[in-house]
Amino acid sequence: MFAPMDLPFSTRLPRFYFAYPPADEPAPALAPEILVDTIESPAERRAGLIAGLLAEPARISPKFFYDAQGCAIYGAICTLDEYYPTRTETGIFAKNRQAIAACLPTGAQWVDLGCGDGEKAWGWLDAVQAARYIGIDIAEGWLAATLQAGHKRFPHIGFTGVVTDFTRPFSITDVLGTQADKPAVFFYPGSSIGNFEPGQALSMLRTMRAHLGSHGRLLIGADAPCNTTTKPQPLLEAAYADALGVTAAFNLNVLRVVNRELGSHFAPGDFEHRAVFNAAASRIEMQLVARRSHQVTVGDAIRQFAAGEAIITEHSYKYTPERFEALLAQAGFGDVRRWSDERGWFNVYVAAPGAQA
Ligand code: AVJ
Repeated sequence: MFAPMDLPFSTRLPRFYFAYPPADEPAPALAPEILVDTIESPAERRAGLIAGLLAEPARISPKFFYDAQGCAIYGAICTLDEYYPTRTETGIFAKNRQAIAACLPTGAQWVDLGCGDGEKAWGWLDAVQAARYIGIDIAEGWLAATLQAGHKRFPHIGFTGVVTDFTRPFSITDVLGTQADKPAVFFYPGSSIGNFEPGQALSMLRTMRAHLGSHGRLLIGADAPCNTTTKPQPLLEAAYADALGVTAAFNLNVLRVVNRELGSHFAPGDFEHRAVFNAAASRIEMQLVARRSHQVTVGDAIRQFAAGEAIITEHSYKYTPERFEALLAQAGFGDVRRWSDERGWFNVYVAAPGAQA
């Protein structure tokens, strides 16, 4: 049985409701189900956005990138020549599929964090003989389509979706607990862990660790920083400032999302995309820089922007294997195995739970 949930911080327990299938319709066996976590109300979401925009420096959480348009542009980013992380990670997965799968439990509940279209997960379900797929994403519309596609392709396993904002403390113990005899594999690819500040990344890893029991595992990808031998800084920066301007469009699109959320009037033409590597912090910093001095109404307040002033939209932390393994250890993981590409641009880790702290 599952050990009682041991969250590293106190949290309101999320309440789930079934969005699909509708409660008054009997669900066919193994039909996908979607649970919506009500942890953050639209009012809270707006309040957080407004607070960030009024702060110095102004900030917009990267979670606001991913409306339908943003998801589509992000898909385009992943196919760019300059954006090496996706194809490098995919290559590591393809080359080491069996070796990695051998480190994971069979018959597991595959928990896909930020599942998107699910494509990265489909390559694993047969390799580990997964018993259940749990896709977690903030985008409900996308999730329904992903579950249906997965269900078609793997009709013999159950598909559950959870709509939640996992940038906040979360618990899916109740969801996993319906099949408590099956261990969980948390799958967090794409170096998305890099979007968290290091302290938040640690909390997030601890949250995952707390869900694992003794047989669960974490399979996670993390991009590496630049170096003077195999990975020059311009190559890293070009991944976030491509020649076609796709990443610029991705960054500027967040202003449309903000306008929709807040009824504000940010003009994409008044801002310029910028991406620089901060070596001291080992992170790419994405910003929207005001092209001219102007003001924008944000909620009940007026936000003044000076020419050249930046809104921080994303930090993408880059981890050496040493630093990432230290972070995993701090989060309560024990045995860690690592796979990389030949040039050491990107790393994939399988982490087993360590002795509970
Ligand atoms: C989805 C967070 C992994 O940081 O590389 C891509 C997002 N931002 N280009 C990243 C992103 C700009 C991406 N992650």
